[in-house]
Amino acid sequence: MGDAVNAVVNPAAPHAFDGLADRYTALMATPWQRLRHRLITANLDRHLTAAHRSWLDVGAGDGLLAADLAAQGRRVTLLEPAADLRAAARQRLTAAGLIERCDIVAGTVDDVPRLVARRAPLGLSLHNVLEYVPDAVGALAACLRPLPSGCLVSVVVGNPYGQLLAAAARGADPADLLDQLRSGTLTVGLDGHRFTRPALPLEELAGLMRAAGLRVLGSYGVRVLNDVLAAAPSGSGADPDAVFALDLAAGQDPVLSRTGRYLQLVGQRP
Ligand SMILES: C[S@@+](CC[C@H](N)C(=O)[O-])C[C@H]1O[C@@H](n2cnc3c(N)ncnc32)[C@H](O)[C@@H]1O
Repeated sequence: MGDAVNAVVNPAAPHAFDGLADRYTALMATPWQRLRHRLITANLDRHLTAAHRSWLDVGAGDGLLAADLAAQGRRVTLLEPAADLRAAARQRLTAAGLIERCDIVAGTVDDVPRLVARRAPLGLSLHNVLEYVPDAVGALAACLRPLPSGCLVSVVVGNPYGQLLAAAARGADPADLLDQLRSGTLTVGLDGHRFTRPALPLEELAGLMRAAGLRVLGSYGVRVLNDVLAAAPSGSGADPDAVFALDLAAGQDPVLSRTGRYLQLVGQRP
């Protein structure tokens, strides 16, 4: 998912990020990943209320989102298969004085129904996790089915159109870009050893949420213009707040949002 960190991510491994916490947290500190997080949380904030007082973050990584949610006073369960990412999350939440509001649980998407039955969370996030799950469609349905009434859901997936545009802006070979366009696949994983997965298109994702009984409240593109701007010789010097304002607006534009590097859908069980 990053552009500057070299690491081996084995798609066949059950937990593709295990043992990579140092590299992963370094990646999360890059300007483009900080922008991603800022945009995702700004989109989510449009729908969050005090009623969403308990949250389950599936594939919680190093706890960045969990820290934001806990700082807002919510009770957060972090579900994360990679032991060293769980340790990084614990460190972050402890340092921020938020650990008392959080439970860090070892497990995968397969454990969501069991956790939901026990904790009845009023919010659930699946941010760039479905890309690493063998059966993304089945996993999403299984996560959504047991959610209680009023539960808010935020799903983020990679978008092949955003990847294509960013690669074009960086001057990729047109023949390679054409292959990429025709394949309809998404390239995921950390830099160095990426792998391709079938993309989960926006309409299919929205359809799966509706089929699970959710109302789709918001649809956003995440990082629409940043990656194009950053490819220009002067691009990396742009004011981060100006780029954030631009990409927040572009991510809500009905046409431009379709070209975001990531797609975010927010829904709610009535
Ligand atoms: C790209 S990272 C995203 C982390 C975090 N959600 C974020 O948006 O910053 C993917 C995360 O999914 C986790 N993961 C991989 N396979 C998983 C599975 N089967 N179930 C749950 N999480 C998984 C990884 O360990 C990693 O933390």
